[in-house]
Amino acid sequence: MKEVRLPPNAALLLESMRAIGYDPASAAADLVDNSITANSRRVSIRFDPGKPRALAVVDDGTGMDEAGLLAAMRHGSQSPAERRAENDLGRFGLGLKTASMSQCRRLTVVSRRVGGAPHGMVWDLDTVIATQDWTVGVLEPKELEIVPFLDELLARPSGTLVVWEKLDRLADGDPGDGSVLCDRMSQVGDHLALVFHRYLSGNPTRLRLDVNLQPVAPIDPFLESEGALAGEEERIAVDGHHVVLRAFTLPHISRLTRAQIDKAVGEAGLRREQGFYVYRNQRLIVWGTWFRMFRQEELTKSTRVRVDVPNALDHMWSLDIKKSTASPPPAIRDRLRGLVPTLVRPSQEANRYRGHIAVKKGIRTIWQRIEDRDGIRYELDRDHPVIAGLRASVDDGTLPELDNVLQAIGTSLPVEALYNDRANDQIGHKKERIDSDAVAAQLEELARQMLDAFADRRDEQLRLIDGLGTIEPFALHPGLVERLKTRLRTA
Ligand SMILES: Nc1ncnc2c1ncn2[C@@H]1O[C@H](COP(=O)(O)OP(=O)(O)OP(=O)(O)O)[C@@H](O)[C@H]1O
Ligand SMILES: [Mg+2]
Repeated sequence: MKEVRLPPNAALLLESMRAIGYDPASAAADLVDNSITANSRRVSIRFDPGKPRALAVVDDGTGMDEAGLLAAMRHGSQSPAERRAENDLGRFGLGLKTASMSQCRRLTVVSRRVGGAPHGMVWDLDTVIATQDWTVGVLEPKELEIVPFLDELLARPSGTLVVWEKLDRLADGDPGDGSVLCDRMSQVGDHLALVFHRYLSGNPTRLRLDVNLQPVAPIDPFLESEGALAGEEERIAVDGHHVVLRAFTLPHISRLTRAQIDKAVGEAGLRREQGFYVYRNQRLIVWGTWFRMFRQEELTKSTRVRVDVPNALDHMWSLDIKKSTASPPPAIRDRLRGLVPTLVRPSQEANRYRGHIAVKKGIRTIWQRIEDRDGIRYELDRDHPVIAGLRASVDDGTLPELDNVLQAIGTSLPVEALYNDRANDQIGHKKERIDSDAVAAQLEELARQMLDAFADRRDEQLRLIDGLGTIEPFALHPGLVERLKTRLRTA
């Protein structure tokens, strides 16, 4: 067989690799990974908020000398199969280049070691297209001087400055005033706050991160310091390493502040954020999933299971280049499947308990839950004293009209909307009962209407008054019921 050399077309390959699926947040996280691996303590993201011109990530890590920088600029700078230091967040030797070029057409990296001179190199997609080759630019001292945000690097004893320019993707759709870029960067900040929360917390913190000088505060999805219930640690041995699990049951949503809900619950809602939170060397990779082993049920919505995986097991977890997906190998999957029913129990108990309160036995509810062969439906209870009282008080000619209205209300319960809002924790968790004078007057009026239906049967009236505390809506205001009873009895 004859063998021919067939190198990739540089321009086409680079162009295609831009579509690998990064978003601004995962791309920025890939750069922060590199900074952390280089032992940085302070990482700053900088951009000009008024103009989408350049974005920089600058760190105070060990930095690189010229040869190191040249190696770093190469696509595939290190074999994915190579054993990495325990704290190395990299794997593929690609992130710096692929993450950057997914967002911009020009990537400049300037780096220097302690006491050394800064060196700068550039990947520019337009140069690659023009030269039709893997042409990397090496900056002259004069060219170095005009690299955006260079001062930020020079203010640190050592470190690396990564600059994105020609922001065709990152600033896509920006009218030129940086408004779209700013919005995107605010999402980037939230993503980094979550993904690196374990680096950003602690005293002292291992890492300080800021976006345009605004410190990024950690977002702890387990609310560990805010009353979450932590389970026992479970260890699964694999290939001489350990996967370490710990389940957390979040406090009930009614005990969280709005700010905590916004941060920990997020837009998707509590229910869709339940599941495993997989960390690789303490960096969050994938979260809010049961890896298709279980459904995200309403009752288990408060469970979040922290799963710590060392990078030595990368090959088993099908880690992707963007570090945004990973899935457990079969051996671990089986163990997880066995553990989850125990891990979710506290959440089931907490949420089931609240369910019971909602349909407390012995309370005469206006809406009846009816379960039959057709499934479950809710109907207005026409014999409920409040409704029966109203029906008895209208004349025979108006009764059909009233029944029509009741029927219309009964069949138009917005089940879907309620369900969605509840699943997103938008309603139902902060139902404050305000026993104001206005409510008291309204309830009294309602009770009198109800009793009027039995105007000629005092015994029936007294029975109703005695049972007032078990009838909706009176049952929802226990504080008012006793007073109301006394007034009605003496009337
Ligand atoms: N901020 C930095 N400080 C010091 N060295 C860096 C920095 N960024 C990148 N490097 C060097 O460049 C190399 C290539 O980085 P790159 O992100 O492309 O690949 P990686 O981190 O090895 O793997 P991955 O593709 O999984 O991210 C790194 O291995 C590291 O040696
Ligand atoms: Mg990397």
